Amino acid sequence: MKTTIAVAKGDGIGPEIMASVLRIFEAANVQLGYEYVEMGKSYFDAGHSTGMTAAAKETIERLGLLFKGPMETPKGKGVKSINVTARKVWNTYANQRDFRSLNGVDTVFSKAGIPINLTIIRENIEDTYGGIEHLLTNDVAVGRRIITRAGSAQVIRYAFEMAKRKGYTKLACGHKANIMKLTDGLFLETFYEIAKDYPEIESSDIIVDDLCMKLVSRPETFQAIVLTNLQGDIVSDLCAGLVGGLGFAPSANIGDNISIFEAVHGTAPDIAGRGIANPTALLLSGILMLRYLGLTTAAANIENALLYTLEQGIHTGDFGDKATASVNTEAFADTIISNLGQVPAQGAVVAQPDVAVEIKHDRPAVNKITATNTAVVEELVGADIFVESDLQPTEIAEIAQKKLNDKVKLVMISNRGTQVWPTGSIFTELVNEYRIRVEKTDGGEISQKEAFQIAADISDDIKVCSVEFLMKFDGKIGYTLAQGQ
Ligand code: NAI
Repeated sequence: MKTTIAVAKGDGIGPEIMASVLRIFEAANVQLGYEYVEMGKSYFDAGHSTGMTAAAKETIERLGLLFKGPMETPKGKGVKSINVTARKVWNTYANQRDFRSLNGVDTVFSKAGIPINLTIIRENIEDTYGGIEHLLTNDVAVGRRIITRAGSAQVIRYAFEMAKRKGYTKLACGHKANIMKLTDGLFLETFYEIAKDYPEIESSDIIVDDLCMKLVSRPETFQAIVLTNLQGDIVSDLCAGLVGGLGFAPSANIGDNISIFEAVHGTAPDIAGRGIANPTALLLSGILMLRYLGLTTAAANIENALLYTLEQGIHTGDFGDKATASVNTEAFADTIISNLGQVPAQGAVVAQPDVAVEIKHDRPAVNKITATNTAVVEELVGADIFVESDLQPTEIAEIAQKKLNDKVKLVMISNRGTQVWPTGSIFTELVNEYRIRVEKTDGGEISQKEAFQIAADISDDIKVCSVEFLMKFDGKIGYTLAQGQ
């Protein structure tokens, strides 16, 4: 029985490249059925606040797999990106992007004879992409960076499984845990925890700035890298640049129930409607999807035809030898179709036996909640009270101390994360938002209500912007110290 998938053509160049890719699929006798869904800019314009119709949502949730063209999110209307929303609401926690050198796509590395073949796995839901941001004062904006044990475990386990499937021998974790000790620290800790289950894969970690430097100087030394969302976003575009640009960057958004396959690039409004877009990235995403569905023979057949076509120097206007004429989207697709059955001189793909893969799309009765260790002993030890003020640090300390009782003490005041009281430097420049850290006195105990009461008392004299509790988990402190503390 044919698997049926949901297809959204997208906006801008989306319909042009999607039509070409599906034409190639048909010519290669890909055994898939398609249900087209209504998503994208025109559906925002028609008043659907999520950019899709209820029927589209129902179809995607029923079929479990969406193949999509790029989509435009209207600017300045306060709506969230449909692409990010789709990845988040359907919990496609792993974003896989494969990058490889392609013959016919010249880069500095291909010219130097250095082959690139690496995969970036980017966490796809958490991090700053929660978009939870607040202006605390007119001058100070803050964003919440959410990294969870459950979310990290999902994407990291996927990365190890992917590495195993692809026959990779190593997997690196990119991070900035030296600075973001709790958020990236949690991601890194989870990485090494899960690595224990995969002794056959060499696991290592690398600080993300060092990673960027090494990727541009020695990309051939990497096989697979797993990163948090924002760092993964940036590093994967860097990798796209290494292999010839966004026109060659496919992506799979994998979840346990629903997955989305799309190109990394956007709607290319500057060339939309002209029939000249490069369909390669969407075709490569389609090939990833065929493999995901177990249709490996068709995937290999199409990939070989694409590689052969590129080797012949056939190119759309955005890449390739400027001395030879470019072809348009349709002609590019036609050439790939006529090259089905051809084998490229370099990098030919050997088809693995087809394995029928059933897309899981059971409808859960309730939202799944994951808490990893409910036996952890939690202890409230204090609070960080964020206030708006342009007073000097000592004046803030005086006001705060007047509001405290013998259960709590003032331990530190910081500004932009730098300690300014009890000690600090007169050269530290300040903004009008301070953090007042209070902790319970030795042997004492405070409740959340008491901590809130202290903040409420302080708010009689200084505007309170927010309150964050200081917690210990099994005796380990769950907050960072200020710089200089
Ligand atoms: P873009 O990727 O659409 O375009 C950047 C540049 O690359 C343009 O010069 C464009 O002509 C070129 N380009 C992109 N894809 C191409 C292709 N297949 N063939 C030939 N040239 C290509 O990025 P931009 O301009 O920042 O975004 C445009 C719109 O796309 C925005 O509304 C954005 O929100 C949306 N977008 C959607 C994405 C998605 O659906 N996953 C991802 C990125 C952007």
